[in-house]
Amino acid sequence: MKICILSGSPHKHGNTMQLVERYTAGAKTSGHEVTFFDTVRMDIPPCMGCMACKKKSDGCIQHDDMEEIYPAVRDADVLVFATPMYWWNVSGPLKTAIDRLFALPFNIRRGGFALKGKRLRMLLTSGGPPRRNCNPNWRTWAARCVTSPAWSGSASSRGGNTGDQPVADDAALLEKAFHAGAALN
Ligand SMILES: Cc1cc2nc3c(=O)[nH]c(=O)nc-3n(C[C@H](O)[C@H](O)[C@H](O)COP(=O)(O)O)c2cc1C
Repeated sequence: MKICILSGSPHKHGNTMQLVERYTAGAKTSGHEVTFFDTVRMDIPPCMGCMACKKKSDGCIQHDDMEEIYPAVRDADVLVFATPMYWWNVSGPLKTAIDRLFALPFNIRRGGFALKGKRLRMLLTSGGPPRRNCNPNWRTWAARCVTSPAWSGSASSRGGNTGDQPVADDAALLEKAFHAGAALN
């Protein structure tokens, strides 16, 4: 399977990336193909809400690094949002990239939903207790995904303040991330 990971963490070796690395290692062990994008360091300006992508049906009129992400997302069987919790949500860079996915064919009533049939996974880290931070965030995204019942997902989450790397010391959580990647089928 093809797995496309969109990361929203600014820390190259931080908590979120610890999970991404183990998840990727697990997925590769099972023979899956993983594509990774660091949305923080890519040139991805916000969606301008011009709706040109819907009126002209030929994608986004902005030409930037999203052009690398669009084909990878379209090809992917599994889409992974990996991010630290920022204000009880995904981080800004990741949210901007997600907004820009609106330029993909997206008309549910006509069945033309580019994300249909894909699975959504989230790798979330938080400073506060995951139960009160990551889990509501996951539920928000999962609820949105009800518009496309083929989506399903699970969340891995763990606390730690920015700058700390408690995930690195959490062998059980890292193992869980590895198995989540390896178990994809
Ligand atoms: C701007 C900002 C907002 C944050 N908001 C939350 C939050 O709402 N809930 C939470 O539990 N942690 C919050 N945190 C803490 C981070 O989610 C946490 O430190 C995370 O593990 C950092 O991951 P990283 O090492 O990949 O950057 C916030 C951190 C920052 C910098």
